[in-house]
Amino acid sequence: MSSPMIRKLNALLKTERMGKVLHYFEEVDSTNNVLFDLAGKGASEGTVVIADAQTGGKGRLGRKWVSPGGHNLYISVLLRPDRAASESALLTLLASIAVYECLKKTGIQAPSIKWPNDITIERRKVSGILTEMEPVGERAEFIVLGIGVNVNMSRALMNREMGEFARQATSVSENLGREVDRAKFTADLLLELEKWYGIMNSRGKSEILKEWTKRWGGKNDRVRVSIEGRESYEAVAEGIDTEGFLEVRKEDGEIERVISGDVTIIS
Ligand code: BTN
Repeated sequence: MSSPMIRKLNALLKTERMGKVLHYFEEVDSTNNVLFDLAGKGASEGTVVIADAQTGGKGRLGRKWVSPGGHNLYISVLLRPDRAASESALLTLLASIAVYECLKKTGIQAPSIKWPNDITIERRKVSGILTEMEPVGERAEFIVLGIGVNVNMSRALMNREMGEFARQATSVSENLGREVDRAKFTADLLLELEKWYGIMNSRGKSEILKEWTKRWGGKNDRVRVSIEGRESYEAVAEGIDTEGFLEVRKEDGEIERVISGDVTIIS
């Protein structure tokens, strides 16, 4: 199935691999699920799944990603990096850089990255990334990079769809005060992803860690760290380690690595 948006995207796409095989659906449960299936059947690197709407959009930590049709971008990209499964967090960082750069190109002056997978504008979330992988022994057989961007959602629609979370969310159009061309935005995003994936493969992961840190808005933030099964605690965000995990300094001065969990900014 195609759509005017996808026809325009195909015309604008300047990538060599990312999105050259593209599957479009008006509605799916989750683009990550669809691409995960295709990957298991041998789909090639760079294969993309886009849906106009998702009925079961997935977020991090088992949360739901609000995915109404007609406004936003729900996209999954297949990568087959020759990397250890433990390095998959690196791909989330890489995708955050790509989304950040794409937002800048679209006219957002000061986007920010919040560890591990949020892109924000003035502390409100505009995009989230869900990286899922198929491990085979120590290696990642493939990685599905799922990216959701609130592109043209109006304030009224956010309020209706997101309830109490709407005040922590925003959209690109809300910040620019105009509608954004979803096809152009998607073409720019795929080009950025290809560029940063190339940089990781040629210059190594240290380059991604460095570039991510430059764009990260969280250094020295006071944060509350909530990890399942443990009491939450306050700490100060310090940086990321070589695997992309957040390092926080606790009240007693000890540095702790946060591998998964919720990190909310206090000040
Ligand atoms: C998060 O912030 O918790 C991650 C959200 C990721 C949402 C995207 S939308 C496209 C892809 N398909 C999904 O079901 N999830 C990701």
